[in-house]
Amino acid sequence: MSLLLNRNSFGNPANSGNLMTKEAAMSLFQDWVLNPKLQVHMLQVAHLMQCWAKEKEGLDELGIWKWEQAGLLHDADWDQWPDQHCKKIIEHLEALEIDPEVMHAIASHGPAHFGVEPENNMDKMLFAFDELSGLIHAYSILRPGGYEGMDVKGVKKRLKEKSFATNVSREEIQDAANRAGILLEDLIAFIIPRQAVITGSITV
Ligand SMILES: [Fe+2]
Ligand SMILES: [Fe+2]
Repeated sequence: MSLLLNRNSFGNPANSGNLMTKEAAMSLFQDWVLNPKLQVHMLQVAHLMQCWAKEKEGLDELGIWKWEQAGLLHDADWDQWPDQHCKKIIEHLEALEIDPEVMHAIASHGPAHFGVEPENNMDKMLFAFDELSGLIHAYSILRPGGYEGMDVKGVKKRLKEKSFATNVSREEIQDAANRAGILLEDLIAFIIPRQAVITGSITV
């Protein structure tokens, strides 16, 4: 099954700055994503994107929401339409005349799968957070204290352990960090405390 999108241009540049409202994005999220585990993953990635946009990029409220929205919706079609992953949500956002940058970020969250390269910082950070956030969450589930006391060293150990989270590609995680120009250690250190906070507040 190929998920290649076979295109690199999404939406209409004239729609730059058009975003879904938080209410509309949340309602799409709830309608499309029924699997609670996937919901948690998407909310975690959305939160990490929001934190990065705010803390590292210094964006304004709309810019921060754009990053968060890309994170929130990046796997929207994975639950019910896995064979149309990325394609379906992108076409939906195109029909809603949403900012093309949101679609490009979603389209490039797995260059090996969708054939679209991450270009700007929003694209690169979504790709960098996606798999690593999932691996860190899997690790938290195994730890008696969850996120409590988790450190970078422990996560790096899990990364090296081939039998742990076998579906998470280590190559992809390293590739994504390289593309973002961030040390893996720094990325892990950014994720742990922020993901701990959001995970504690999720009720699904
Ligand atoms: Fe995905
Ligand atoms: Fe994802």
